[in-house]
Amino acid sequence: MDKDLFAHKSKSWDMNSKRVKNARSIAELIVKNIELKPSMEIMDFGAGTGLLSFFVAQKVGKIVAVDNSPSMLHEFSKKSNEFACETEIVEKDLSQEKIDRTFDGIISSMTLHHIKDIKKLFEAFYVMLRDGGFIALADLDSEDGSFHSDNSGVFHCGFERKELEMAAKEAGFSHIGFETASVIEKPHQTFTVFLLTALKA
Ligand SMILES: C[S@@+](CC[C@H](N)C(=O)[O-])C[C@H]1O[C@@H](n2cnc3c(N)ncnc32)[C@H](O)[C@@H]1O
Repeated sequence: MDKDLFAHKSKSWDMNSKRVKNARSIAELIVKNIELKPSMEIMDFGAGTGLLSFFVAQKVGKIVAVDNSPSMLHEFSKKSNEFACETEIVEKDLSQEKIDRTFDGIISSMTLHHIKDIKKLFEAFYVMLRDGGFIALADLDSEDGSFHSDNSGVFHCGFERKELEMAAKEAGFSHIGFETASVIEKPHQTFTVFLLTALKA
């Protein structure tokens, strides 16, 4: 396995109130835009410690937390009994490996910028979805590279929504939409976070 890039951050990840607020805002917009059901099994891609999963858990039957960081997943597992739905942890690097199963939906928060080839990722997501399944993916709008204090493992300084829309369309998705999910205030600048939703329909 490659180096765990989040090993030094995992223990204190949930202590950052801006992160928790951001995840809550993203979850609220997902719940508003997607008809989630207790019968659904969804994947949280780059689930980390489970901030997004936690807020979505009340609405679905099961969340499969996929992440390539053992330390982040360890924090997720410590909270397993606090989630309102069933959870499962899968340690995988989805930019290198496949998961041979299908889901009703795929959610994600602040992980896309760690993935070099977004088109390939969207194609993999499309294969992993059942017919009628959805993606609801949140990340930074295009920024000047100053969001992270250390940019190791960061392949994109946010995203242009148009470019992501193209990549989603080329992967086969329809009903593609964007909305601003949250605003993150840092001392030097304000950053916006989009939510991309689309269907395999
Ligand atoms: C910025 S954190 C976001 C964590 C969580 N979604 C949240 O909002 O708090 C990005 C997460 O994506 C994971 N990640 C990065 N690249 C990945 C990959 N190729 N496959 C799976 N997970 C990945 C990291 O380990 C990390 O937990």
